[in-house]
Amino acid sequence: MLETSNMILSPFQLKHLCLKNRAVVAPMSRVSTKGNGVPTASMIEYYKRFAEGEFSLIITEGTYTDHSYSQAYPNQPGLINDAQLDGWHHLVDKVKKSGSSIILQLMHAGALSQHLSDTRSASDVQPLRAMLPGYSQKQGAFPKPHAMNLEEIKTVKLGFIETAKRAEQIGFDGVEVHAANGYLLDQFLTDYTNRREDCYGGNLLNRVRLSSEILQEIKWAVSSEFIVGIRLSQGKVNDFDYLWPGGVDDGAVIFKSLQQAGADYIHFASEGQGFDHGCLTRGGESLPQLASSLTQLPVIANGGLETVSEATRILKNGHGDLISLGKGALANPDWPQKIIQGDTLKAFQPDYFAEGVAL
Ligand SMILES: Cc1cc2nc3c(=O)[nH]c(=O)nc-3n(C[C@H](O)[C@H](O)[C@H](O)COP(=O)(O)O)c2cc1C
Repeated sequence: MLETSNMILSPFQLKHLCLKNRAVVAPMSRVSTKGNGVPTASMIEYYKRFAEGEFSLIITEGTYTDHSYSQAYPNQPGLINDAQLDGWHHLVDKVKKSGSSIILQLMHAGALSQHLSDTRSASDVQPLRAMLPGYSQKQGAFPKPHAMNLEEIKTVKLGFIETAKRAEQIGFDGVEVHAANGYLLDQFLTDYTNRREDCYGGNLLNRVRLSSEILQEIKWAVSSEFIVGIRLSQGKVNDFDYLWPGGVDDGAVIFKSLQQAGADYIHFASEGQGFDHGCLTRGGESLPQLASSLTQLPVIANGGLETVSEATRILKNGHGDLISLGKGALANPDWPQKIIQGDTLKAFQPDYFAEGVAL
């Protein structure tokens, strides 16, 4: 058995990438562009800190994918035009030179946009709760979305595919399709936000169809080395306590479908209240562990895993091959280095949200 910290520090092969340890930076929206969606010099410094701190892999903040309805927040980055392409190119070069691999998260906000007033979703269902503080001046209830027609769904798919191609062109190691946390693809997946009666609604296989088609069509459009992962979750930013109603049965349908579509990894998110709250079913079964055993795909686990004991518990018990840190990485951009040196970890404080944002 590996010694505790050695487990976190052991290498892992993710397709062609030889990752030097199991520590991944979780995607975190930082709403730091100047409104044009172009990555800034401050964002380069922000991402470089994680690379210099020895994280083996960084997954970027959710990045919008089309001009139509995808953008979530006013200062969110995009990758849909040449200026944004140049900005990301520069950032990717710097991060890779600092020693980390980097994957771009592709995000469509759907009904949870805090940027648009006229939104699109799977169905015209009023989103629960309210907009997130700190991401835009728009606050209060989300607008009621319009249900997407098939033409609009085509536009969504094209946006994901073209953005993935651009990401490969400028040196990203891969892309992660954001199907978690209540955003568009999760709106299609979730029973109460998807009331469609066409091939994208009804049973679970239909509800996961859009995510599967997007994965498959990205895979067709990029080279075989380019990594195409997917992020899932039970909870949502506007519904933290939601659990998949069918538990492991739902997990089996979703994971198998995404595997057949060609996913290179599954990233299971638990926003808010930690791994056990977000990653276990009502019956206490681990969905990331199920994803791993059913598909044999690499799995990234997430949710309050910044202590050595939690990270080790997850890796040791087969809940994930890699662990991703959100708030723990904001507090400790050099988290892996601290583990190597046996240094004390800083606890997360709310003002760490400010670092790297709008600098
Ligand atoms: C400031 C902030 C922004 C986030 N933005 C994203 C995002 O763009 N995409 C995403 O999939 N998750 C996002 N998340 C969720 C995190 O990736 C992660 O799942 C969550 O923070 C739980 O992990 P932790 O306990 O290690 O912080 C965000 C979280 C934070 C704190």
